[in-house]
Amino acid sequence: MNILDYETVDLNEEKKALVIIDQTLLPNETKIIELTEAQEIWDAIYLLQVRGAPAIGVAAGFGMYILADKIDDDKSFDEFYMEFVEKKDFLNSSRPTAVNLSWALNRMDNLVKLNSDKSIAEIKELLKKESIKIKEEDIAMCKSIGEYGLSLVKPGDGLLTHCNAGQLATSKYGTATAPMYLGHERGYNFKIFCDETRPLLQGARLTSYELSSAGLDVTLQCDNMVSSLMKEGKINAVFVGCDRVAANGDAANKIGTSGVAIIAKHYGVPFYVCAPSSTIDMNIKTGDDIVIEQRKPEEVTSMWYEKPMAPEGVKVYNPAFDVTDNSLITAIVTEKGIVRAPFDEGFKELFSK
Ligand code: MRU
Repeated sequence: MNILDYETVDLNEEKKALVIIDQTLLPNETKIIELTEAQEIWDAIYLLQVRGAPAIGVAAGFGMYILADKIDDDKSFDEFYMEFVEKKDFLNSSRPTAVNLSWALNRMDNLVKLNSDKSIAEIKELLKKESIKIKEEDIAMCKSIGEYGLSLVKPGDGLLTHCNAGQLATSKYGTATAPMYLGHERGYNFKIFCDETRPLLQGARLTSYELSSAGLDVTLQCDNMVSSLMKEGKINAVFVGCDRVAANGDAANKIGTSGVAIIAKHYGVPFYVCAPSSTIDMNIKTGDDIVIEQRKPEEVTSMWYEKPMAPEGVKVYNPAFDVTDNSLITAIVTEKGIVRAPFDEGFKELFSK
């Protein structure tokens, strides 16, 4: 069985469990885990067993349904809602940067508030349906991003991506990888270049794995080799995902993305950010207001190595994301269309459609 035959995130309706591939073990082991408790779901998101903004949103939707379902049917609406919000806030505290987490949780929350006149059992049923809908929409959204993205490139192009915005970060196709998968189906013969993506190696462990499993032509390089690749003229376009886009088009994505954008600008390579509309946060004016997750030093000093690769106790800088300035972004590819600068106006038009 191929890694792409597995569901990245799923709901086991019978067992009332969130089902995920434990991505920390890939590519060496494909382990499917079932989660039913709030702490387990929180840990899975924090530890990146499930990761990537859209997949986190889908997992949060299923997770919220599973946790709400544990609340007693005999409770009054107010009692139910108090417990619901407690669980929602807990899940929301697992990672701060990807807006899809709070977006999915708020969507579930709004549904509960809108149905306060219904019985608790009915509300639970609605929550289940909504969580399944979030996943279905995610698949359609990725496919549409793929079509728009594909219109920006031509057969034989060299495409570079950073981190994993692939099927393992979504429900299917991925966002930044969607044009690559669709192009592959249509015989485009792309040459894909994946950044390794220090420190957690999402590019090496996940992107190069899933794309090569699908039969694409993939080359892996360390993050510091991007400039060399572009200087040699091997890259025609960059496609990256994102975790949150501010109203002015500044986009937060995996640490290292902004460096790729700066290098791409220098070499005149178009830099495309693939962003489902759920990732665009119109409440945030600029990237300065995006909260950047800081992670543990061990991810830089010892994780993935047999022995520590830095002196014990050395100070470590380990932000999980950075913000790419909108001036470096050629276009933002959404499921509703392609947006170019000025992004704030483009987004307003997009959301009015
Ligand atoms: O820390 P991660 O692995 O969750 O970071 C993932 C990324 O930065 C992705 O590029 C982003 O979430 C978009 S996924 C379609």
